[in-house]
Amino acid sequence: MVGHTGTGITVSAGNADGRKQLWHGRFASGPAEELVAFTESLSYDQRLMHSDIACSRAHVAGLGEAGLLDDAEVAAVLAALDQTGREYDAGQLAFEESDEDIHTAIERRVTELAGPAGAKIHTGRSRNDQVATAFRHFVKGELAGVARRIVELLEVLAERADEAGTGASAAYLPGYTHLQRAQPVLLAHHLMAHGWALLRDLERLGDCRRRVDVSPLGAGALAGSSLPLRPDSVAGSAGFSSRFENSLDATSDRDFVAESLFVLTMVGIHLSRMGEEIVLWSSSEFGFVRLDDGYSTGSSMLPQKKNPDIAELARGKAGRLLGDLTGFLATLKSLPLAYNRDLQEDKEPLFDAFDTVGLGLGAMAGLYRTLEFDRARMAEAADDPHAAATDLAELLVMSGMPFREAHAVVGELVRRSIDEGTDFAGLVGADPRLGEAAVALLEPGASARNRLSPGSAGPAAVSQQRARFEEALGSARSIWGIS
Ligand code: ARG
Repeated sequence: MVGHTGTGITVSAGNADGRKQLWHGRFASGPAEELVAFTESLSYDQRLMHSDIACSRAHVAGLGEAGLLDDAEVAAVLAALDQTGREYDAGQLAFEESDEDIHTAIERRVTELAGPAGAKIHTGRSRNDQVATAFRHFVKGELAGVARRIVELLEVLAERADEAGTGASAAYLPGYTHLQRAQPVLLAHHLMAHGWALLRDLERLGDCRRRVDVSPLGAGALAGSSLPLRPDSVAGSAGFSSRFENSLDATSDRDFVAESLFVLTMVGIHLSRMGEEIVLWSSSEFGFVRLDDGYSTGSSMLPQKKNPDIAELARGKAGRLLGDLTGFLATLKSLPLAYNRDLQEDKEPLFDAFDTVGLGLGAMAGLYRTLEFDRARMAEAADDPHAAATDLAELLVMSGMPFREAHAVVGELVRRSIDEGTDFAGLVGADPRLGEAAVALLEPGASARNRLSPGSAGPAAVSQQRARFEEALGSARSIWGIS
């Protein structure tokens, strides 16, 4: 027997008591051991247990409405479904060798519990629409969980941005392009940049959920059924917003898996970029942040070390998320309509992506909540007078000089200060085109406060941005029902 790995679940030793595969009628002999080992999905698709039960309840109620099961049969099957769920939760559901996936196991147990009524549960249903329905149901719940965790991280970023401030004592650091110091920016602005990226992920999750939220139940194996099924009401009672439009598409569509994987991978890539930044910032070379003991690790050999492992794994695990996404896209490519067993490969990558992103978001929220920013070190790096060069050029523009000319004037002063080893502020002060106002821009923090345009890194713009962020976060919260 293959090793089903669910916690607390017992597996019977074999098929000796005459348990049958779902398709046994057509076959003279049972499946080979290698076939079972290679094709089973029970060892991982147990995670769909409660989603399958919820969707099976809706299916059975629909069969009742259609008059295909009478009230007593409906009641018996619903009770058997509930009991199967309880047995599973208590670790008391014994799997059989013939249970190739969780859907088969549930049907088998329901039939044992409810007798002949139980044997009617698969009426008008194939595992092809059943598995797609249960998986969509599960994915909806998981997407909501990821949304909650993103909101938690966004709250941390917003809190840290508020603490960094926009007032006279606001924290600021060099902004970089090409990883070279470019222009000073407020720390609040920098933190919010990550916030906006994650907020877009939250919006993408919401878009994705709309397309996941469609029930394939009633599509049968591929073509629907001759029975008077009620896919609309079944969709509603399974908690879906609508039902499928085309049975071939419904049973074979896994866009919803690929799309969920993309959104999760995008979150993972954003966490990876944030992680890379923390790795840099916590190095002695930058020294912009110190990590909390609870969110960093030591070295087994080097006593002085404090390592940014969460940040590194946020970076490293983006690689596996990319693998989950691209591997599954490769599985989908070239599949003919409709269901093919290849589609069973949809589950493990998406389970992995949910687990990886969920844990990563939680760990990064803790890391950012407890980071200590070294404002003095950041300011020292940002107050490099050359970082104010653009402010000086813009000052000349305000007095009417064409920008290209202003760029050259300031560029030449920078070059002279470097070549001659002279003080930049001295050169600026002595230049009749620049003077007092220009020297004031070289004061500590002056350049960081001198970004004035909307959306920029300066105090007024960042305060306005912060308010807009709160608004956008509020609408995302209400879309996901997060208070
Ligand atoms: N475990 C299968 C899956 O996840 C269930 C569907 C099997 N359908 C079939 N016709 N063999 O895709």
